[in-house]
Amino acid sequence: MTGQRQFARFRHRVPALPSCPAAWFMTSLKEYATFFGQFRERFETTGAIAPSSRFLARSMTRYLRARPADGPPVRILEIGPGTGAVTGTIVKQIREHDRFDLVELNEAFAGHLKQRFENDPVWNKVANQSTVHIAPLQEFSSDGPYDFVISGLPLNNFPADLVDDIFEHYFKHLLPGGILSYFEYQFVRSLRTRIGAKSERARLKSIDKTMGDYCSKQRIRRDWIFPNLPPAWVQHLQKPQD
Ligand SMILES: C[S@@+](CC[C@H](N)C(=O)[O-])C[C@H]1O[C@@H](n2cnc3c(N)ncnc32)[C@H](O)[C@@H]1O
Repeated sequence: MTGQRQFARFRHRVPALPSCPAAWFMTSLKEYATFFGQFRERFETTGAIAPSSRFLARSMTRYLRARPADGPPVRILEIGPGTGAVTGTIVKQIREHDRFDLVELNEAFAGHLKQRFENDPVWNKVANQSTVHIAPLQEFSSDGPYDFVISGLPLNNFPADLVDDIFEHYFKHLLPGGILSYFEYQFVRSLRTRIGAKSERARLKSIDKTMGDYCSKQRIRRDWIFPNLPPAWVQHLQKPQD
């Protein structure tokens, strides 16, 4: 093998470096500052101290990235995009005629995302195909179902009946055969069940049952993502064809 070919192989494995490190650093800093501010102000719905890692983002987009090069256009729904840690990976997968909807409850995060679609050259390329909706998922209605639903909602923070409701919405928005990918922090429910008050234990047990029922019937894969704060599982579920 020639030196040049070896180098080409090696280069393929190295994660792409940002074209302008200073701009990348400023964007990341702004993202962390916005996220941490919202974590302090709105803990229940933000649910995390920092945006997700790129490892988690890659897992969340595993099936979107795996679609055939000559496949038909797809519709993608991202729920709870926050500052866009997963959105950035989705955006790079969008092709001509795809449709991308984002549903974000928090106006500060939605404003940050809209600015990114205006100012970031990579995001701006797909801005015409993308819409940021400021609403809770429970109030969002769309003009058609989606091939991919990618959700970052902090379900373990929610009342049990809201989690039931959200799962119904996830599947209502999916096409038959479509894929739901969502994450949850590893062992959080079992740890909190051990130390929490009685009502908290009942809430978490009920959430566990809801997720367990869906996962036992429809899960096609679970990824363990350790390089994330905190480590997470990504669950991939497929809606039955009929
Ligand atoms: C754990 S953060 C995830 C942010 C981002 N996806 C990431 O991975 O870094 C949860 C996000 O869900 C949003 N959220 C919470 N409840 C929501 C709801 N009912 N509908 C839409 N978004 C919601 C929050 O505002 C926040 O942006």
